[in-house]
Order: sequence, then structure tokens, then C-alpha cells
Amino acid sequence: MSNSDILNNKLQLLGKLSASLVHEIRNPLFALKLNLDYLTNIRSQVSEDAAESIRSCEEATDRLMFIIQNFSDFTKNHSLETELCCINDVTKVAVNIMQSNASKVNLYIQTDLQPNLPAVYFQKDKLLQVFLNLITNAIEAENTNDKIFVRSYLKNNNGKKVIFWEVEDYGIGIKTEDKEKIFDDFYTSKKQGTGLGLSVCKKLLSEYNAELDFESHYKKGSKFFIKFNLNEKLL
Ligand SMILES: Nc1ncnc2c1ncn2[C@@H]1O[C@H](COP(=O)(O)OP(=O)(O)OP(=O)(O)O)[C@@H](O)[C@H]1O
Ligand SMILES: [Mg+2]
Repeated sequence: MSNSDILNNKLQLLGKLSASLVHEIRNPLFALKLNLDYLTNIRSQVSEDAAESIRSCEEATDRLMFIIQNFSDFTKNHSLETELCCINDVTKVAVNIMQSNASKVNLYIQTDLQPNLPAVYFQKDKLLQVFLNLITNAIEAENTNDKIFVRSYLKNNNGKKVIFWEVEDYGIGIKTEDKEKIFDDFYTSKKQGTGLGLSVCKKLLSEYNAELDFESHYKKGSKFFIKFNLNEKLL
């Protein structure tokens, strides 16, 4: 057996181990989330301190659920079930979820969504996970501006119609020498990052014939964009 065979075997084992770990964590986590939802509903009946405590638990649980979802998307091969998705609707859900995180670092997520875009074939929850990952990165980019921008628009790309979705920040940007690393599994420059966000985005998007790319200037900001290649019969 060659060294690369041994490494592949180890990686496969690691993949299986994390998949089963994620599976085991998921159930108690959902139970926790359900109980917290109940506590949130009765928040007005408890003291301000207790209400704050419930809010913190909720945030931590949401973060955990998000990480678990990334791990699960990373290790699983998907069934490739598709449904017709409206990119703007999913974007609005993502922005709604992220707006409160953004406001904690004094940021506002400004949207500019072209109306009446054609629908794309995707899985809504996977598309949401992609948007959440990219918007999260933009929020975490140590912005100097007080806004980040999320846009969607239809464009003619080499004679083919393509929907572009993009998120732009005016943050720290990415150094030239780091640009080739950012899509590597587990690459992170953050203290609390897992380095899976972009890997998961790339994997999910390529499964659905969409492409992820970026432009970035160190200390100026970054723009991550997705190209959704349209199925001609939908146009
Ligand atoms: N908008 C951005 N601005 C600057 N750097 C970015 C941006 N998006 C990604 N990066 C760089 O790419 C790295 C990998 O991103 P990725 O989303 O995969 O992992 P992470 O954000 O570090 O952790 P996780 O997403 O798992 O919490 C980041 O650590 C950061 O160095
Ligand atoms: Mg990330």
C-alpha cells in the first residue's frame, strides 16, 4: 500500500468518524434548540438578566447548528434532489437571519436584488447555507465601511444568460499569497474559524452547476460572487 493510499484510508475513516459524530450531536442539539424556543416565548415573564442569558444560549446554539450543518455538508455526498428556487427569496431569508449579527459590529446589510429573476434548480436549505457562509465571512472581515452589499442580477456571459449573486465588503481583504489557500479544507485565519465555510460553498455550488469566485484587495475589501448557469428552458 502506497503512502497516498494510507492517507486516503485515514481521511475516509476521519470522514466517517466526523459524520457519525455530527449525527450524534444533532439530536441533543435539536432538543436544546426546541427548549430554548420555548424559553424565548416566555422571556417576558422572567427577569432582564435571565432573558439576556436565554438570548446568549440561543446565539450559541444557532452557531453550533450552523457549524454542524457545515460539517454535515462537508462529509456527505448529496442526493442531488433539486427544486426550483427563487434566489431573491432565499437571499432575503439569509439577510434577515444575518442582520442582527451584522448590527453587533455596526454593519448594515444593504441589498440590491433584481426583480423577476428566473428560478434556478437547487435545494433551498443548501442555497441558504451557502449564502449564510458568504455573508458571515463578509461580516467577519473587519469592515471599515458601515455597510456590506448583497446583490443579484442577470447578465449575458459569453452569449449565455447567467444569474450573478454577490456579497461585497470593505474589510481586511485577502493577501495575494493567501488567495490560493482560502478554498482549502480547514484553512482559516480566524481564531474561532473551522475553515470549512468556503469549502462547503464550493462543494455545494459545483454539485448544482454553479461557480464560486472572488476578487479581493488586501486592506480594501473583497467581493465573492456566484454564477448560476441557467437552464435554457427556464428562460
Ligand atoms: N470576505 C472575506 N474577507 C477576508 N478574508 C476572507 C473572506 N472570506 C474568506 N476569507 C478568508 O478565507 C478563510 C477561509 O474562509 P472559510 O469561510 O472557509 O473559513 P472561516 O471563515 O475561517 O471559518 P468558518 O467559516 O468555518 O467559521 C478565512 O479564514 C479568511 O482568511
Ligand atoms: Mg467562514
